[in-house]
Amino acid sequence: MSEQSRNITYTQHQVPLAERWRQNGHSSGILWFTGLSGSGKTTLALNLERRLFERGWHVCVLDGDNVRHGLSSDLGFSQRDREENIRRVGEVAKLFAQTGFLVITAFISPYQHDRQRVRDIAGDMFHEVFIDASLETCERRDPKGLYVKARQGLIPDFTGISAPYEAPLQPELHVSTQEMGVADCLTQLEAYTQTAFTHEGILA
Ligand SMILES: Nc1ncnc2c1ncn2[C@@H]1O[C@H](COP(=O)(O)OP(=O)(O)OP(=O)(O)O)[C@@H](O)[C@H]1O
Ligand SMILES: [Mg+2]
Repeated sequence: MSEQSRNITYTQHQVPLAERWRQNGHSSGILWFTGLSGSGKTTLALNLERRLFERGWHVCVLDGDNVRHGLSSDLGFSQRDREENIRRVGEVAKLFAQTGFLVITAFISPYQHDRQRVRDIAGDMFHEVFIDASLETCERRDPKGLYVKARQGLIPDFTGISAPYEAPLQPELHVSTQEMGVADCLTQLEAYTQTAFTHEGILA
């Protein structure tokens, strides 16, 4: 606990989480997408959100680019700033998850240690999803033209080129966007989501 937060107590909420789950028809948590730039995090997160939303789920996406325009607009891409970015996102995702949302986060989040910290913050609400494609594949896709710029030395600390990516060792789910098309990846994600967030024990 920091000096600033020492005199702050917790407010007890009037609506228990289990009641929210029963009303929503699904439990809540965080699907934490991690992977190289261009691996497909945003594409899959937005498609999965749309599908679940259409089935009445309380679901939202926190996306790297958008968060960096607002909540983390003061941060860059050094290891320290990335760590703080992921810490903030982890805390926000947890707040949403505690109010019954299924939160899908789409951040490169390259450092194992930073992702582990979110797991420590969120406990079993945290589901690590490895959105996996090789550097060669991502570079070939280059949907935002960032790899070209990074190779030209125009973007410092670019993951995969001039900064490391530490792949998850034991993710809850491994989605290979290199071996499967978008539709098959979504089927895999939907099946996992259904099993993890609607099984009977949770909603009893
Ligand atoms: N199976 C797949 N799943 C997801 N995207 C795929 C797949 N196959 C090809 N793609 C393509 O790969 C690209 C992925 O881009 P996307 O913006 O989703 O990546 P990202 O991981 O969010 O990158 P960044 O970290 O830079 O935001 C898109 O152009 C998408 O059409
Ligand atoms: Mg993205």
